Amino acid sequence: MIFQRWLQEELNLTQVRIPTACCLSTIGLDNYPNARFVSLKEVSDDSFVITGPLNSRKGLEINLCNKVALTFWWVETERQVRIQGEATQISKTLADKYFSERNKDSQIISIVSKQGHVITDVDGLIEEYNRIEQSSGNNKLRRPEYWGGYTIKPARIEFLEFKTTRFHNRDLYTIENQKWVLQTLQP
Ligand SMILES: Cc1cc2nc3c(=O)[nH]c(=O)nc-3n(C[C@H](O)[C@H](O)[C@H](O)COP(=O)(O)O)c2cc1C
Repeated sequence: MIFQRWLQEELNLTQVRIPTACCLSTIGLDNYPNARFVSLKEVSDDSFVITGPLNSRKGLEINLCNKVALTFWWVETERQVRIQGEATQISKTLADKYFSERNKDSQIISIVSKQGHVITDVDGLIEEYNRIEQSSGNNKLRRPEYWGGYTIKPARIEFLEFKTTRFHNRDLYTIENQKWVLQTLQP
């Protein structure tokens, strides 16, 4: 798959801490497009996996309309990838796996923080964080019910590569009758 080759080529060169960061766009509850960065967790069965709280703003938006976009800009290789597709919630078993792969700080934050809610008591949050950190010791933390992820099955993927001539290469793949059809677009 071209995506994995491009990602690997960027990973070979980049020094950034979260090289899998990408912009997840959803159709907002108020119809404004809504976009935020997330980190791509895996490409599995030609679909793209992201994780986070399902009851967040993005979760509510995906519940209402599961058509989303994922956009990558890779600085070292000067490439952009635009994916449009449909998001489906991953199974609880898979969510457990991704949760267990998070570092402990992130796991505790996922447990104590209600992502997107207004903070009324910062000290209370910090206390709760410290309490869980101390009481859990070396024990594994359980994934909260509301934490999970989505697998995004692409319907369209565009690969853009910068060229020094400015004649950038744009290859658009679209699913037609269950087959990928390639069109090369003007820059
Ligand atoms: C580089 C980067 C990676 C991020 N990765 C995630 C992620 O994987 N999952 C997540 O829920 N939020 C992630 N965030 C935070 C989101 O950008 C966002 O603040 C959060 O998901 C709440 O968005 P929402 O209110 O639209 O649901 C990341 C932010 C940045 C800057």
